[in-house]
Amino acid sequence: MTTPQSSPRLDLSALDWQPFSHPAFQNSRLPNFQTFSSMIITVASLKGGQAKTTSAVHIAALMQADAKTLLVDGDPNHSALNWHQRKGFPFEVCDERQAVKFSRDFTHIVFDTQARPSREDLEILGGGCDQLIVPLTPDALSLDTLFAFTDSLQQLGAMQFKVLLTIVPPRPATDGIFVRQTLEKAGLPVFKTDIRRYKAFQKAALSGVLVKDVADDYAAAAWSDYAAVVGEIFGKSEKGTAK
Ligand SMILES: Nc1ncnc2c1ncn2[C@@H]1O[C@H](COP(=O)(O)OP(=O)(O)OP(=O)(O)O)[C@@H](O)[C@H]1O
Ligand SMILES: [Mg+2]
Repeated sequence: MTTPQSSPRLDLSALDWQPFSHPAFQNSRLPNFQTFSSMIITVASLKGGQAKTTSAVHIAALMQADAKTLLVDGDPNHSALNWHQRKGFPFEVCDERQAVKFSRDFTHIVFDTQARPSREDLEILGGGCDQLIVPLTPDALSLDTLFAFTDSLQQLGAMQFKVLLTIVPPRPATDGIFVRQTLEKAGLPVFKTDIRRYKAFQKAALSGVLVKDVADDYAAAAWSDYAAVVGEIFGKSEKGTAK
């Protein structure tokens, strides 16, 4: 993995480990998760702009509702750290150089990664987590790249990956359905939940908050998509499948 040149310090003394009382969670619809054992999630893709950071941030936020969660920003652009520093997420974020030091203080760890990982990165990514989530936007170019990526993962023996369809356009567009069918025909594991395309996600990143805290009519729907994904990760279906 690439090592960033500089990174903001993780201040554990400032850690407010009270997820349900944190203001960011007030009035939010939290899924009713039980406590699960420790989980390491990595979010990775070959192509850029597939919603890796958006997914890592929201998955970490929802896992924090279960147990103390650390989001590790493995992208030298520090997108997740920058997003966090605008307002502050109700969970901790650090860069990957700090991960080893702090990981023992957390139950769940979510890794956000840079696009185009090297073969060495892939080996580490594939073997070092409980679930490798591969976000994919439903378009032809992304699909080609996805197959190249999953081929490499399979060659490396990393079988615990699952594709997450992201930025899926609303009906009547059928792009999401077509790509899902293509993946299923190819025998690739795919999350049942689609992450639908909502402007609220872009607003969330711009304002430095989670999507549920954005003033937008679709904020709750956008948040509920990731809640359903985390339900799938924990083996509990919180709601239906693809919309
Ligand atoms: N479900 C969604 N609906 C609409 N826009 C989205 C959605 N998810 C992410 N986006 C937007 O798509 C863009 C790319 O998302 P993001 O930065 O999460 O992707 P990434 O894979 O981490 O990119 P990179 O490869 O550059 O790290 C951002 O502008 C983000 O706000
Ligand atoms: Mg990113």
